[in-house]
Amino acid sequence: MSETTYIRDLKGSPSLEVVNLVLQKVSKGEKITSLAIGEPVYKTPQKIMEVAFESMKNGDTHYTSSYGIREVREAIVEKVNKKNKIKAGLENSIFIMSKQSIYASLMAIAGSRSKVLIPDPGYFYTEPILLAGMKPVSYTSSEDLSFNLDNVLSLLDNDTAAVMINSPGNPTGRVIDKKNLERLYSACKSKGVRIISDEAYEDIVYNVEHFSIGSLEPVPDLVISIFSLSKSYSMTGWRAGYTIANEETVSNIARVIEQSTTCSPPFIQKASAFALKNGDEYIREFRSDFNKKKEHVEKRLNEISQLKTYPIEGAFYAFPSYKVKIKSTELAKALLNEYQVAVLPGIAFGGAGEGHFRISFAGSFETIDLGIDALGRFLGSRAKSSS
Ligand SMILES: Cc1ncc(COP(=O)(O)O)c(C=O)c1O
Repeated sequence: MSETTYIRDLKGSPSLEVVNLVLQKVSKGEKITSLAIGEPVYKTPQKIMEVAFESMKNGDTHYTSSYGIREVREAIVEKVNKKNKIKAGLENSIFIMSKQSIYASLMAIAGSRSKVLIPDPGYFYTEPILLAGMKPVSYTSSEDLSFNLDNVLSLLDNDTAAVMINSPGNPTGRVIDKKNLERLYSACKSKGVRIISDEAYEDIVYNVEHFSIGSLEPVPDLVISIFSLSKSYSMTGWRAGYTIANEETVSNIARVIEQSTTCSPPFIQKASAFALKNGDEYIREFRSDFNKKKEHVEKRLNEISQLKTYPIEGAFYAFPSYKVKIKSTELAKALLNEYQVAVLPGIAFGGAGEGHFRISFAGSFETIDLGIDALGRFLGSRAKSSS
């Protein structure tokens, strides 16, 4: 095991640096066009809100089991059986927001092996791994940002506790196909390595299928599948999600909840059960709107000659690289200071993200256009001054 990492030891996040700058500017009355934030602009569907309100009025305002109420666990199991083809029972399910589950799942498996493999560029998994007393080891994507199985396999060894995967990926927008997931699963199985599959964007895919690696198991065993209602139903502030794992892991995750928050609010659980059972139409509506935005963003970014773009198969991010000589953190700061546009620097997502930036197209068309117009002007002027 690696040395203990305390919260005070963790490095500040480069993305938060940009977010803090944005907040400072907004507090001074400046108008900022933000392409930085990863959440949909849609209102949570009215019916989901009504279920929560009714539930509160009916007295669902007390503690629940750390695993979640039976109603939501049943809805979770039905959903993952049907949609993800994961053969899970009630004992394999737990209601937990996905960000907390990343941390709790790592805590749940910590104790014997020390390494956790993480995607680079990828979501922010480093800090929870360190806090769980393990060591993050990056595996890089292919040139086109797609999942590179060989890079993962070359790092797998008997000290590897888990491989984190994230498909559709933040920030890459890439989806891992079934063949690669099958190969990854058999390699991990042969070495007894766990797979933590972050499927927060499972519903936001464009012309490709989302495949859940957990469906490869006859019963949940090595795979921990993390799901979220945040992006699927535009419920980011509700802190609603769920995880599927083997019974022992689920019980360890429940202990993390027990020792920290006790449970999720019951009315949130009720509304989540409703969404999982009845919310397919919202998912379809949001996906169709995201698809229009994705096509628009691809077209607009491809018109900027200083950018190289990559296929967007899922999620709501573009992660272009740029042909101007400037560090991504400097680019993000200059764009914000000179053009009042916020993007996240690629380096925030790992060393392999340098030379890229991330824009979120989860906002309105107007915001997207304002931001990309400014981006084009900024890169054009930088290209001229360096030529
Ligand atoms: C890849 C990924 N996983 C997990 C999360 C956490 O989301 P939540 O806790 O809202 O479900 C996010 C949020 O942006 C994300 O991008």
